[in-house]
Amino acid sequence: MSEISKFENARRRASKLLEKMTLTEKIGQLSQFGTSIYSDDHKAFEDHFAEGKIGSYLTIRDRKRINEIQSELVEKSPNHIPALFADDVIHGYKTTFPIPLAQSCSWDPEMTEKCCAISAKEAYRDGIRWTFAPMVDIARDPRWGRIMEGYGEDTFLCRCFARAAVKGYQGNEIGEKDRLLSCMKHFIAYGAVVGGKDYNSVDMSMQQLYDIYLPPFREGIDAGAATVMTAFNDLNGVPSTANKMLLTDILRKELGFKGFVVSDDGAVEELVNHGYAENEGDAGKKAFNAGVDMLMSGDIFNDHFPEFVKNGEISEEKINESVLSILTMKFLIGLMDDWKVDENEDTAFFAPEHLSAARESAEHSFVLLENDGVLPLGKHDKIALVGPMARNKRDVMGPWECVGEEERTVTVEEGLKRVFPETKISVCEGCDLETDDISGICEAVEIAKSADLVIVAVGQRHGTVGEAASTTRLRLTPPQETLINEVSKLGKPVVLLLFCGRPLVLTEYRDKANAILCVWYPGTETGNAVANVLSGKHNPSGRLTASFPVTEGQIPVYYNFFSTGRPAVGIQRFEAKYNDCQIEPLYPFGYGKSYTEFLYEDIKLSSDKMTEDGVIDISFTVRNTGKHDGYEIVQLYVRDLVASRVRPVKELKGFKKVFVKAGESKRETISLKAKELAFCHTDMTFSVEKGDFKLWVAKNALDNSNEFDFRVV
Ligand code: BGC
Repeated sequence: MSEISKFENARRRASKLLEKMTLTEKIGQLSQFGTSIYSDDHKAFEDHFAEGKIGSYLTIRDRKRINEIQSELVEKSPNHIPALFADDVIHGYKTTFPIPLAQSCSWDPEMTEKCCAISAKEAYRDGIRWTFAPMVDIARDPRWGRIMEGYGEDTFLCRCFARAAVKGYQGNEIGEKDRLLSCMKHFIAYGAVVGGKDYNSVDMSMQQLYDIYLPPFREGIDAGAATVMTAFNDLNGVPSTANKMLLTDILRKELGFKGFVVSDDGAVEELVNHGYAENEGDAGKKAFNAGVDMLMSGDIFNDHFPEFVKNGEISEEKINESVLSILTMKFLIGLMDDWKVDENEDTAFFAPEHLSAARESAEHSFVLLENDGVLPLGKHDKIALVGPMARNKRDVMGPWECVGEEERTVTVEEGLKRVFPETKISVCEGCDLETDDISGICEAVEIAKSADLVIVAVGQRHGTVGEAASTTRLRLTPPQETLINEVSKLGKPVVLLLFCGRPLVLTEYRDKANAILCVWYPGTETGNAVANVLSGKHNPSGRLTASFPVTEGQIPVYYNFFSTGRPAVGIQRFEAKYNDCQIEPLYPFGYGKSYTEFLYEDIKLSSDKMTEDGVIDISFTVRNTGKHDGYEIVQLYVRDLVASRVRPVKELKGFKKVFVKAGESKRETISLKAKELAFCHTDMTFSVEKGDFKLWVAKNALDNSNEFDFRVV
């Protein structure tokens, strides 16, 4: 059956069922519950089962319990409708992959599609049918802890990952076995909270919203995303969770979204704190009438909606529409026909091919920030491995690790010992990730003294990044800084391995190491991936997708800022700059080193003109002039020179990840479609404007070496 007819068939079955449902049961379908409803106080919820007041559950991580709940619900509820079980399957279920920000540094959406498909399979086998992912919020502010959960600061790249993740979770069509419903979140502009403070307000022009924040959602919806989650923040004074313009006019009417909308957890009752609703009933009504279909989580809809329907404040027709969307999904994924989870099927968890995908995706996500030639590691008799990440199993999994199992993590120590069996590797953590205790640092320095080379494995504790983890200090803890300082004084080669979930200020560590490898939070295969990259078995190819600032005071610092009237070109005092700091970040968007060198040669444009619906093909040769095979990420940036609104100084419009063997070269092409140059005008229309453009075939956002002109005619 084609996808359309499958959908229609599911909707038809849902409509038939709807006819039999009471209002109470319909409202129940719109209500999601957390774990407590079944565990602690089961008796108190008996009426929920008997009246069918439960549509969905979140984060129940035990398939035996899922089966128990389902059988009770199906048996007792009036129309025997099973619940939809959801979870935050964000970068893996049991097998843990690198955090999404790290995955984006691979510039390899196909690899992310694979990671999401594997995560879906493991979660499906445990009874989960819906994930609250991908998060496609653009994040330009590393103070915001959730920057780790998205795909970086750039809209074009985030679009590619949004599509890949939706496809990975859902498969080619909704309803395939071993796949999950996806949920694009958080609608919208959550990454732009003022000051990077989580849950804060967002105030931005509608043009900015359309140009920067909306496209990843549009892309994911085009790819078939089944659900969308609202955001906690207000946008220009109206909370997103009760924002009719966003949830109905833009999301449904303009983007053509056909699935259902779930509120973020607690976001409905928080409308009262926003001062946007008088009480929780009023909050529920405002959210629902604006376009929320399902409440995460609790009884607000169950408690108040029957009354609102009676007095006409909510229409039953609108309730029917929401129930229909939710039931249609339940039919489409086969839940209505078969909800039972096989409790004995364990082959998917940590399957060998899952672990190799985890290792490979980690290797591709690492970004080599500095290297004076010390890497890849040659033959060393004695290596000292110091720092609190040396044997760490938990933090390296990263936040939102779902049911990842700490015991399965391969540590850096284990990985290195496997790859360098001949080398004596001495380990001392020196300090931990949390306390100010520096008593172990002397011992770490002692073992470093007797080694030929020191690897310092440092980073941030897993809980310092993620939700509700905004911070103003983007640095390591003082004991870790002391460790780096003391080790650097020994005159030995030092490799800094950095575990983090956001861009950090590395200015002061830069001169203290011969190499810095940013490995983010790599997940289950941490040690194997780290060892493969340090040894040169895998040549690092990750490129940053969020700028690393020189200092916190530079934030926000992102590459695609608007042209100002006084650009910082260094000819006069009165320029858009800082007087005490450069305006460029320490490491720009797109930046990352390799163990080899790549040259771009013979760059040709198929034309220097195109029409508004035309294409220019940019072809080039990538020559690997070094001694190591490797991947290069060729980036295409453009600038619209004169337009009816001020345009960014540069915008990414294409990229190509190319594998080239040492000494060889490859010819490649990137196509630039004129429609990619469209932007939102003052009157909210969206189109390409004719005129002159510049184009760069570049290694990162600050690389201006290969510059070309073209014209849209
Ligand atoms: C987060 C969501 C998440 C939900 C359920 C909320 O606090 O903002 O992203 O999906 O919790 O865990």
